[in-house]
Amino acid sequence: HETLADKQYRPRIHFSPSTGFMNDPNGLIFDGRYYHLYYQYNPFGPYAGHVHWGHAVSTDLYTWQDLPIAIRETEAGEAYSGCAVLDRDNRSGLFPPRTQDKPQPGSVETAAQKAAQLFPSLPEDEQARRLVDRQSHDLLKGANSSPSLLKELGDDPVSREQSPVPMSPALPPMAGGLVAIYTRATPQRQTQYIAWSPDGGQTLKDYEGNPVLDIGHNSFRDPKVFWHAPTEKWVMVVVRSREHKVSFYGSFDLKHWMHLSDFGPSGITGVDYECPGLAEVEVEGETPGEKRWVLFVSINPGGPQGGSITQYFVGQFDGERFTPDDTIVDLTDFGKDSYALQTYENMPGNQTVYVAWLDNWQYCEELPNKSWRGVMTIPRKVVLRRDTSGWLRIAQTPYALEALRRPAIPFTLSRLEPQSSRQVSLPTGEAVELLLDVSLEDRGSTLPDGDHGRAGRFVVAFSNHQGESLSIGFDGFSCQLWLDRSNLHGFTHPFFTGTFSSALVPGSRRFNLRIVLDACTLEVFANEGMSVGTALIYPANPLETLSFQVTNAAAVIHQMALYPLRQTMDR
Ligand code: FRU
Repeated sequence: HETLADKQYRPRIHFSPSTGFMNDPNGLIFDGRYYHLYYQYNPFGPYAGHVHWGHAVSTDLYTWQDLPIAIRETEAGEAYSGCAVLDRDNRSGLFPPRTQDKPQPGSVETAAQKAAQLFPSLPEDEQARRLVDRQSHDLLKGANSSPSLLKELGDDPVSREQSPVPMSPALPPMAGGLVAIYTRATPQRQTQYIAWSPDGGQTLKDYEGNPVLDIGHNSFRDPKVFWHAPTEKWVMVVVRSREHKVSFYGSFDLKHWMHLSDFGPSGITGVDYECPGLAEVEVEGETPGEKRWVLFVSINPGGPQGGSITQYFVGQFDGERFTPDDTIVDLTDFGKDSYALQTYENMPGNQTVYVAWLDNWQYCEELPNKSWRGVMTIPRKVVLRRDTSGWLRIAQTPYALEALRRPAIPFTLSRLEPQSSRQVSLPTGEAVELLLDVSLEDRGSTLPDGDHGRAGRFVVAFSNHQGESLSIGFDGFSCQLWLDRSNLHGFTHPFFTGTFSSALVPGSRRFNLRIVLDACTLEVFANEGMSVGTALIYPANPLETLSFQVTNAAAVIHQMALYPLRQTMDR
């Protein structure tokens, strides 16, 4: 049953499971109408184990509708992390042909048919391997002049009869459908499985030929698959966790996979590499349409902040191999509660948007809420931007959050004198978003002044009458940001460390913040997303006051806005 803590810490605009234990986001895909969120799920209790795939759908990425479990634990093992793709043209041949489906002139033949035609004398497995080999080779050399086989969503002339499942009628007609690719895990073996959906993602049926990829390994997991248009094949990114290797595989039918290359060990190894991802990301400004590839690799345990964290590399991908541009390794977050991010497949406008598990393996099974555990981050859009040294870094900002804003809380602030503060009441029981753009004025002296920072500090604090406070602050001398959750009293744990920091722009006393606070979650986006800090927070009592304080310098507030955030359904 639900305890007080279960209610108090339940976020309003972040996804959390009604009961049980949730970890990684899986199968993130937009199918033309619905955003799917599958997730690692133990329906039997608030602890990791008996891993199934839970499922929810949304039309805005904030208001979620729970759906039945999509993949179960079986005798073959637990259903570990994975992804989903839209096999629109039934290249996999997993989708049964409909009686009214007549072959259309110029219709796409399945990879299996093509392979059989090209290499009739070879066994089926070898045919597929040869096809991957041959097409990759031709396409990379630009030798294949065939028109792109990838059809746009909905332009397939073959219309399918409506399924009784309520979600399906909205789906554009297609010959194929949604396919999940995931790991079946036993203590002895981790192998890759595929499952297809006859009903727009509600049910996932295991392919009889599973596993589709088995290298006889016990730490080989978390496949993320995407369609690589230039080489007209699916590419799988998967990890050999303990060896700290990201492996790339290619396939034309999702059933046969050919090894393409390996990346790593690289960056921070930690104990295990987990949940890799590769996305082509827009580079801001400069040349319109410029893109680079970003390889995300989650590591656990052994992250610099402790436990779980995600690192990323920026580079190029040619359809076979990822080549980093430089030797830089960077983390997606300066807090410690953003892990196992997955980017959405098929996002409108090819935007890169991800959701991560807002948690850390160090304490996720011991959090104060009991009947349910696990929260996802809000969706975050990723772009690449040059930092002050000229390196391409990711910038992450809330995706489509504006739609949730209710009328701003009336409160204005344009200037704060040294050693002064202002405060405003927070709405009870609501998620809030705070926008701030601040400069610290020069205090005219570089001598240290007491304990409050040589050149001034600006502090945003969320507090209550019981003396608890959560602060986000900027130090004007070192140009660093902090996040301090140590003065909240609802949860203590040796690994639940209190403070985190991030270096912003050296020498710049101006910074901006976008802060989202929702029950047990805090997400801080600084300088248009160049620094992001994500933290679970457990105040023993609700936070009721927001205050702004400044020490040793005056602050000019160029912009300030405070919005309650509400799911569109709740209005
Ligand atoms: C990451 C992870 C994955 C694995 C899953 C099991 O958090 O350990 O590597 O597939 O969780 O639930």
